[in-house]
Amino acid sequence: MLSFDLDDAALRETLARKTAEAAELLRRIAAEHRPATLANSLSAEDMVLTDLIHREKLDIGNFSLDTGRLPAETYELIAAAEKRYGRILSVYYPRHDLLESYVRAHGINAFYESPELRRACCHARKVEPLQRALAGKKAWITGLRAQQSATRAGLPVRVFDEAHGLEKFNPLASWTEKEIWAYIRLNDVPYNALHDRFYPSIGCAPCTRAITVGEDIRAGRWWWELPEAKECGLHPGSGQK
Ligand code: ADX
Ligand code: SF4
Repeated sequence: MLSFDLDDAALRETLARKTAEAAELLRRIAAEHRPATLANSLSAEDMVLTDLIHREKLDIGNFSLDTGRLPAETYELIAAAEKRYGRILSVYYPRHDLLESYVRAHGINAFYESPELRRACCHARKVEPLQRALAGKKAWITGLRAQQSATRAGLPVRVFDEAHGLEKFNPLASWTEKEIWAYIRLNDVPYNALHDRFYPSIGCAPCTRAITVGEDIRAGRWWWELPEAKECGLHPGSGQK
């Protein structure tokens, strides 16, 4: 967890304002874009959104894409979130036929071999299940933030997602990492134990490592690839380069 001073008056004031704005946006999404759903990777950001949706008692779905390669700590967080918020999470799995032919053709850890094989793995384990999770929805909500990476700078709060044909909302687009962690501390929100072990950004276990001092927060994701290639295909376009 990022360390900071919870008595910092300016931080608390900004957080209160941004929290009220995000809650208002979520209320509008629930009222005007039904059915809407949160894409929940169990990241710190997605836990903030889950907590806000629960607190506001909003009719907004909550789904997670279980790639089959998630770290044990993420499954522990799913269980902790169920205890805190109830069985709210709809979990989607990859199509077994696509995965079996990928692994048969390329091997179990083929994502390390080339960007093409890495993207093909992300496609079978995340992008195709995402299409099923979004079918019939009017809007989806993500925990993306502009400050997460160069590819996300200029991220809008709302955009029409051409690729999936529905509205996409990023209520935390302008939040800083510090504000995310202040919300989590103040509201005692459950979070992934790996965050306390230098994993600021967490995806699949074989494609995520801890970072060291001074490294970028997404440096531990697909660390063997170039920074501009580090997107998995869940968020094509939508204000990202
Ligand atoms: S990724 O593109 O690099 O994998 P990242 O982990 O930063 O994305 O997550 C950005 C947002 O994408 C999350 O806040 C969440 O809304 C969505 N997302 C990413 N992975 C998943 C997942 N496995 N299940 C559901 N939503 C996800
Ligand atoms: Fe496959 Fe790695 Fe993408 Fe997970 S992050 S779907 S293991 S390539």
